[in-house]
Amino acid sequence: MSRCVALVPAAGFGQRFGSPTPKQYLDLVGRPLMAHTLATLAAVPAIDLVAVVVSPGDEWFDGFDWSGIAKLTVLRVGGASRAQSVQNGLSALRADGRLADADWLLVHDAARCCVSVELVERLIATLADDPVGGLLALPVPDTVKRADAAGRIAATVSRSGLWLAQTPQMFRAATLAEALEQGASDAITDEASAVEALGLAPRLVEGDAQNFKVTYPRDLALAAAILAARTGQ
Ligand code: CTP
Ligand code: MG
Repeated sequence: MSRCVALVPAAGFGQRFGSPTPKQYLDLVGRPLMAHTLATLAAVPAIDLVAVVVSPGDEWFDGFDWSGIAKLTVLRVGGASRAQSVQNGLSALRADGRLADADWLLVHDAARCCVSVELVERLIATLADDPVGGLLALPVPDTVKRADAAGRIAATVSRSGLWLAQTPQMFRAATLAEALEQGASDAITDEASAVEALGLAPRLVEGDAQNFKVTYPRDLALAAAILAARTGQ
């Protein structure tokens, strides 16, 4: 099994969340939101290094004590889009020899703070011998509607075969680097879509609804409840 490195983009400003402090730094059951994310990834035995990408002008990271999170390194190379932050982080790790072409890179959103060790281990175990790589995703559970411009239903779309992409998304470093170099970064919303554009078919690995992305203020209470239940708080 090749090395596994986690890359966590955390250079966004959380516009939909709308808080002056970016959502990844907000308090969540006693620690910054992304401390949960980073600690969980670091607790996965197969992961050797956890690299978090923050923006070059980040004013928050140094205000917290991250020393309790083993394997953590910070890269201050965030870009204007998530894809750019991932690409910059990947390039920085390769440039200083901490990421080899054949290593697996697990890209995971800082804002998916309820990811679990078991889920990441399921992804790694399923993809260990995969020629392409893949991602956690959830089969769409609800009936899907397409809206018209007036907010009325234009069509009911079959949910058969539809999945919701989550993270981590796990690809070989060289494959992902090639994919991101070829894609237009503002059109890429996840790593898999960049890899698909190379003509490859990433594997879907069943994720978990608890691995949702904190996007709006209302999401914090759910994340807090999930994490508190796990730690018995
Ligand atoms: N991200 C990043 N660099 C960017 C934009 C986003 O590293 N230029 C990171 C975010 O910090 C987050 C992850 O990508 O952990 C997923 O993005 P999202 O949930 O969309 O976060 P934001 O872009 O910060 O939020 P919004 O889209 O509401 O502005
Ligand atoms: Mg965003």
